[in-house]
Amino acid sequence: MHVHVLGSGAGGGFPQWNCNCPNCRGLREGRIRARPRTQSSIAVSADGQRWVLFNCSPDIRTQIQAFPALQPGRAVRDTAIAGIVLIDAQIDHTTGLVSLREGDALDVYCTERVHSDLTNGYPLFKLLAHYAGVNWHAVPFDDDAGFQVEGADPLRFYAVSLRSEAPPYSPRRPSRRGNPAPGDNIGVLIKDTHSGASVFYAPGLGRIEPHLASYLQQADCLLVDGTFWDEDEMIRLGIGTKQARDMGHLPQSGPDGMLAVLRGAPARRKVLIHINNTNPILDEDSPERAQLAAAGIEVAYDGMDITV
Ligand code: MLT
Ligand code: MN
Ligand code: ZN
Repeated sequence: MHVHVLGSGAGGGFPQWNCNCPNCRGLREGRIRARPRTQSSIAVSADGQRWVLFNCSPDIRTQIQAFPALQPGRAVRDTAIAGIVLIDAQIDHTTGLVSLREGDALDVYCTERVHSDLTNGYPLFKLLAHYAGVNWHAVPFDDDAGFQVEGADPLRFYAVSLRSEAPPYSPRRPSRRGNPAPGDNIGVLIKDTHSGASVFYAPGLGRIEPHLASYLQQADCLLVDGTFWDEDEMIRLGIGTKQARDMGHLPQSGPDGMLAVLRGAPARRKVLIHINNTNPILDEDSPERAQLAAAGIEVAYDGMDITV
């Protein structure tokens, strides 16, 4: 199975248009060793021909330009994208759908709740209905049967509910603040049923719950939430008032942070993805980055290829 990282940054990307934090400014001024990053998305394929997109970021156009495997190759209008799986309804994961409006109906796989948020609070699906439209495929989660994406055999997908936040525009959010409902956000175990290889993808992982253990234990490769290094990152920089966990992202540091979680996982590759521009691990010379390297943890970058 091939995994190609299209965008490794969190919402806003790196550098973010209006951000003057040490990382964003350092990158602009060439004072830190770091790579720019577009917003959160990966492409997965068993055969290198037909690809499943996970999330569709506002940067999708640039991402397709940078990855020839997704480009039209067989007909005058064509795509190698077999389907699009959305892990939540956030802007950084969904807004690129409008940039794909010129083609045939898009095959979009998401939970019922995400479908509802993209029909009401952020009515992307209604908007797209005026173009070629969306074929919605409901994603089941927390079950053993999983689902398939047409044209992407022999891949099979198993979604698991994650505690992370629903977007601010979710009509149900006011009553659910701090208490997201199952289906607002999922992680997905992607399995190549021929080779048996598997990847667990979870860019918005706010809390490690008991039902996650089997996913974290069985995957050959973990591609998990790398948004924040610590709980108070945004507060300390004067950028926000919320803690990492309040935003639905488990920070890397601390006794029960992502590093500790990854230490206990047997996966051959452990990769952080969806990295916010404030995160010190983006600076390749930072002590935090050295700490990751010592723990055998990689930091995803745009264009990264992973074969499992
Ligand atoms: C998040 O995952 O919290 C987002 O990156 C927020 C956003 O896109 O604004
Ligand atoms: Mn995000
Ligand atoms: Zn910044």
